[in-house]
Amino acid sequence: MDWNEVDRYAKSLIKEAGHKIRLSFYQRIQVESKSNVNDLVTNIDQEIEQFFIRHIQSVYPTHQILGEEGFGDQVTSLNGVTWLVDPIDGTTNFVHQKRNFAITVGIYKDGIGMLGYIYDIVRDELYAAKKGGGAFVNDERLPQVGESSVHTAMIGINARWLAPNQHINHKKLLNMIQECRGTRSYGSAALEMAYVISGKLDAYISVRLSPWDIAGGMVIAKEVGALPSSLSGEMPSLLTSNSFILARPKLHEELLSNYIELK
Ligand code: IPD
Ligand code: CA
Ligand code: CA
Repeated sequence: MDWNEVDRYAKSLIKEAGHKIRLSFYQRIQVESKSNVNDLVTNIDQEIEQFFIRHIQSVYPTHQILGEEGFGDQVTSLNGVTWLVDPIDGTTNFVHQKRNFAITVGIYKDGIGMLGYIYDIVRDELYAAKKGGGAFVNDERLPQVGESSVHTAMIGINARWLAPNQHINHKKLLNMIQECRGTRSYGSAALEMAYVISGKLDAYISVRLSPWDIAGGMVIAKEVGALPSSLSGEMPSLLTSNSFILARPKLHEELLSNYIELK
C-alpha cells in the first residue's frame, strides 16, 4: 500500500467535501432528529458520507468504511484497511451556527492508525498526520504538546456533565472546574481534539463518543505526544462507543487520578 498516495487522495476528498459543505450554506437544508430531538442529522451529513463512500470504494474496493450515517460497511473487525468517517462532526453547530464543525477521517491498517484528518471547514484548517511523520495544520508542523498542571489548564468539557447524571461523579468534576484555569465547550469532539493537539486546550473530556468521532484525532494526537484513553484509562476501542479523554501526558494522569470517577 502506497500510504503517500492514500494520503493525497484522502486530502483531496476532504477538501472537495468541505467545498460542498460551504456551498450548502446557500441552500435550504433538511434537518431531522435521530435517537432524540437534540440528535440532529441533515441531508448534507448524508450526502457527504455517500460522497466519501462512493469515491473510496471506486479507488480502494477492498477497504472497509465505517461512517456515522450508516451508508458504509457493518464493521466488526479492524482487519485490513478501514476508513472511519464522520462527514460532519458538530452537526448541531452546522445547523445553528454555520461554524465550529469539522470533517474527520481516520484510516487504520489492522487496527493501527496510519492517517488522520480533522478539517475545520469554515476556517479552512486541515489538521493531518501520517504515522511517524509528525502532525501538521495546513503546511505548518505542530510541536509536541508539552506539559501543564491542572492549575494552568484550559479544559474542554460539556457543562452537561457538571450537573448530577448517571455516567460520572459530577462533584469531583466541579473540583476540577474550580481548580483549573478555565473551561470551554465547542460542540465538536473532533475540533476539541484538534485544539488539544495544537495547544489551544490542555485537555478534552467526554463521557461518550463513537469511533468515527475520535479515529482521525487519535492518529494526529500520537504524533504530538497527546494521550488519549477512556475515562477509566484504557485505550479507546474503535468498534464501540467509549468515554474519552485527550490530554497532555502528566495532566492526563492528574485528571484521571484526582477528578474523574465513572459511576
Ligand atoms: C457530536 C459532537 C459533540 C459530541 C457528541 C458527538 P455529531 O458529533 O462531536 O461535540 O459531544 O458526543 O456525537 O453528532 O455532531 O457528529
Ligand atoms: Ca461526531
Ligand atoms: Ca456526524
